[in-house]
Amino acid sequence: MQSKKPIGIFDSGLGGLTTARELMRVLPNEDIIYFGDTGRVPYGNKSVDTIIKYANQDANFLLKNNVKAIIAACGTVSSIARGLYDTLPVPYTGVLRPTAKSALKATKNGKIGVIGTTATINSHSYQKHIAELSKDAWVFEQDCPLFVPLVENGFTDPEDTVVSEVIRRYVEPLIQKGVDTLILGCTHYPILKNAIAKVMGEGVTLVDSGRATALYTAELLKSKNLLNHSKEEGTYKFFVSDTPHNFEHLAGVFLQKDIEGMVTQIDIEAY
Ligand code: DGL
Repeated sequence: MQSKKPIGIFDSGLGGLTTARELMRVLPNEDIIYFGDTGRVPYGNKSVDTIIKYANQDANFLLKNNVKAIIAACGTVSSIARGLYDTLPVPYTGVLRPTAKSALKATKNGKIGVIGTTATINSHSYQKHIAELSKDAWVFEQDCPLFVPLVENGFTDPEDTVVSEVIRRYVEPLIQKGVDTLILGCTHYPILKNAIAKVMGEGVTLVDSGRATALYTAELLKSKNLLNHSKEEGTYKFFVSDTPHNFEHLAGVFLQKDIEGMVTQIDIEAY
């Protein structure tokens, strides 16, 4: 048994592409529909009710496009809109559990830092997941509200002092705690990975949700007999809720693919 339907991925903007890119590598034959809610980004400073409403609309849009599974490639949605697990009619995953597991594998001294949006950090979602999986880890959390605007505006160069100073301001307390592993708890942050690594210094492992979530999704689809066994390369469609221009450019650079003309604007409030 197999399914040739696409996999749906959503995020508030560009961040979920870090998961999409890994999924393209892990499952190269799968078709993907990506939705970035660029008209309403950032999610991470919004209220719980608003994030839940947005997450439901994003998932509804993907369902209308006949997806066989949905990935919330967004730390904020994964932390706040927990009800999606029970309500969606297709297999669903967020990024929390796969990422928490990877961090526990990586740490040697048991001290794990988590950085994320304010909503994610206030929910203590990573801390709770890690506590469920292990009694031997200490988790130190820090929200970094300026990181998403940096990424959405293309400020990612590790040599740029604006970028490195903003990062330093947020992560210094975690360096002081002696964390040897840092969870990039927001899917936008892997785009800043080199810059964050430079500030954290050698000896700290950065764990990003992309690869772990892609591998988990592959297992999930396999267990439900929903993998696409076609020999052909998957096709990709991108949708956004604001003008495609900025997204097209930054996403193209990030995915190392020319996606000019492949991004469509939709009215997400209609879902
Ligand atoms: N990339 C998302 C996350 O993982 C959302 C960031 C935001 O919109 O604030 O949290």
